[in-house]
Amino acid sequence: MATVTFTSPEYRDKTVYAVAGSHTQTILKLAQENKIPIQFECEDGECGTCLVKITSLDNKERMGGPLTEKEKKILQEMGKLSREEMEQMIVDDLPSLWRLACQVIVRDEDIRVEY
Ligand code: FES
Repeated sequence: MATVTFTSPEYRDKTVYAVAGSHTQTILKLAQENKIPIQFECEDGECGTCLVKITSLDNKERMGGPLTEKEKKILQEMGKLSREEMEQMIVDDLPSLWRLACQVIVRDEDIRVEY
């Protein structure tokens, strides 16, 4: 069972349990189910409204699954992912810190989501 701690300067931290490995539940869906006010519009990786920063809480290196192509494009457009970071990500096999909540699938790891 994974835990996801949502944190924001405006709200108290909230930690929720997530069913990992369903391969369908996104961070945004989990947030909505738990009434976490992450902003969103398209829910399809097109607008960048749901930008979040994800870090590991259990010191496993990986945070979330690999970036989708839509995510890479939007994060680059928003200046949250440079070409160098993108290349480094491939070398290190690590996702970037900045993600789109509507695109990240919950995995079996404890993470902090800043929104
Ligand atoms: S809600 Fe538009 S990119 Fe996530």
